[in-house]
Amino acid sequence: RTVYVNGDYLPEDQATVSVFDRGFLMADGVYEVVSVLDGKLLDFDGHLVRLKRSLDELSMDNPLSDDDYLAAFRALVERNGITDGMIYLQVTRGNPGDRDFAYPPAGTRPTVVMFTQSKPGLADAPAAKTGWKIISIPDQRWARRDIKTVQLLYPSMAKMEAKARGVDDAWLVEDGLVTEGTSNNTYIVKNGTIVTRALSNDILHGITRAAVLRFAAEAQMQVEERSFTIAEAQAADEAFITSASAFVMPVVEIDGAAVGTGQVGPVATRLREIYLEESR
Ligand code: PDD
Repeated sequence: RTVYVNGDYLPEDQATVSVFDRGFLMADGVYEVVSVLDGKLLDFDGHLVRLKRSLDELSMDNPLSDDDYLAAFRALVERNGITDGMIYLQVTRGNPGDRDFAYPPAGTRPTVVMFTQSKPGLADAPAAKTGWKIISIPDQRWARRDIKTVQLLYPSMAKMEAKARGVDDAWLVEDGLVTEGTSNNTYIVKNGTIVTRALSNDILHGITRAAVLRFAAEAQMQVEERSFTIAEAQAADEAFITSASAFVMPVVEIDGAAVGTGQVGPVATRLREIYLEESR
């Protein structure tokens, strides 16, 4: 595989980053995941807008122009022969010198890394027909989840807990209310109304969330942006998640309780179809 590091395209085993990079030492960096379907980038503009916001919030320079990012994404798709899959983009603060809590001087060049992951048949994931089972666990992440940082240890712990308990993912709960999934935004459907937590610093502002809510409004579906409990989700007609890599994925079981009929429901199915149709 060919990967991108600071302007160079290199075989993955020849790509290197400094051991002093603050991304490595302090999780001081941000990232984006963009899906590729039939060689086409999904929601590229939205992901770039969020990347720039994440960089801004951390007072990090944006090292590339929008055109540079686009050109690099296209080059990686081309060089790696990606039809369906993902592009991972990461910008870390770099670091010219020793470990220090203070940021390095202004003008320090951030480290940019990009790579592809091939996922043939990504849009036809069999799980979309059967749905995910999830558990709930406490949300123990930091309080700026709106910034897409590479500090992903708690989501990884949550994913491992889900795996150990034989399910697909975990929903995170704070003050009795669902914030989001390990790496996705969460929704329930009751009497035809789609309910999802409102945007704040408590959750990542999903790019897929924005697209799906736009398509839902266009299709005259009712949407309520408010928080909900696990009990309310278990008593809902449907539940689902959205993310750049899973698109719209139905959730059929929460903490062992079936959601609605326990089968994939019509609203999640329709939104998945619309999202895949409109974004390709
Ligand atoms: N995760 N919430 C969290 C905590 C996430 O990590 C993600 C994305 C989302 C959904 O955002 P979007 O629709 O923009 O992908 C919500 C990516 C896919 C990942 O970490 O792999």
